Amino acid sequence: MPTHGGQRSRTCVVTGGAGFIGCALSPALVAQFDTVVALDILHPQIHPTSTRPPALHRNVQLVIGDVTDASTWGRLLASLQPDVIIHLAAETGTGQSLTESDRHGRVNVCGTTAMLDALTRTSIVPTRFVLASSRAVYGEGGWLSEAGRTVYPRNRTRTMLEEGRWDFPGLTYTPCGAEVTWPQPCSVYGATKLAQEHVLAAWCAAHGSELSILRLQNVYGPGQSLNNSYTGIVPLFCRLARERRPIPLYEDGGMLRDFVHIDDVAAALFVAATGAALSAPVDIGTGHAVPIGNVARAVALHYGSPPPVITGRYRFGDVRHAACDIGPTLRELPDWRPRLELERSLEQLITWIESQLNPD
Ligand SMILES: NC(=O)c1ccc[n+]([C@@H]2O[C@H](COP(=O)([O-])OP(=O)(O)OC[C@H]3O[C@@H](n4cnc5c(N)ncnc54)[C@H](O)[C@@H]3O)[C@@H](O)[C@H]2O)c1
Repeated sequence: MPTHGGQRSRTCVVTGGAGFIGCALSPALVAQFDTVVALDILHPQIHPTSTRPPALHRNVQLVIGDVTDASTWGRLLASLQPDVIIHLAAETGTGQSLTESDRHGRVNVCGTTAMLDALTRTSIVPTRFVLASSRAVYGEGGWLSEAGRTVYPRNRTRTMLEEGRWDFPGLTYTPCGAEVTWPQPCSVYGATKLAQEHVLAAWCAAHGSELSILRLQNVYGPGQSLNNSYTGIVPLFCRLARERRPIPLYEDGGMLRDFVHIDDVAAALFVAATGAALSAPVDIGTGHAVPIGNVARAVALHYGSPPPVITGRYRFGDVRHAACDIGPTLRELPDWRPRLELERSLEQLITWIESQLNPD
């Protein structure tokens, strides 16, 4: 076992560590752990050149491999013993997951079980797992009836969407909270993220590992893949606006989303990996949701492109609103709070996108 000044050195493995969130988290991790390893397949949808992303800190050892592959795990765990595993590797397309459900199931669910079986085979019990779960586990979430009761309307039906009835009649949306909202995913992606939570919880309870689950809202910011057309709505809007094309808005543009900055998400994951263990899942957002149409209008204004167009089109798997109450999170993670607001950070994101698309 490697030692460091008499103390055993500490190792952190980050699955999917070369992705958007993994790269942003990497500088803090290398400052904290003696060894940081990113296990990542360099998925072509996110990494079109299949090369190490420049944003991944140079002291992170990148192991290119598939989380679903037992031999990859076998080789990895033969040479190191992780104290902390931050599980980020996933297929992340909400809409895509309805047509490619097997891929989402295999990577997200079987990738998690493959990791756990490999740990069992090598008798390694990490002190802690941190899971980047998603607000997608809530699906449409809880809505308030006129009588003041919380009801769970589940998926909007095809008929509702075809007729442009975007909201649930007589119900008012309420922000989700891990302590109070019953998870009811509406996409295969959301179902696989909830399965990851349950699978890890069962294994960790049996083996005595700590588990911190963070349900992330919509993450945005510099470093987000500009090639992945299935995720990342803000870069998508920017790409359209910079070509002077009107941004098409689904439904009536009134869907609410909580956009949380990548730096705030990286900080939350870091605190969850290194601070006190969490006793229950927490929601990571800003606590303020904005209509998607407002974001599109701000982007269009910035580029001087035509105003967004409401198309009335819809996508199955998309929820009407996604917002969260971060009050309980602030109590569970006292060393963390969201610091960056979308309004102020949009400019920074647009500058970064321009530097990527137009390096000259
Ligand atoms: N970005 C968001 O808005 C958001 C919101 C909620 C939850 N999350 C969760 O956070 C985590 C990280 O998301 P991200 O935004 O960094 O996504 P990302 O797509 O940028 O990164 C995921 C990484 O996982 C890798 N990967 C995919 N399949 C793999 C496999 N089979 N084996 C090994 N590596 C594989 C990809 O190559 C990629 O580098 C995911 O679990 C996602 O579900 C993200």
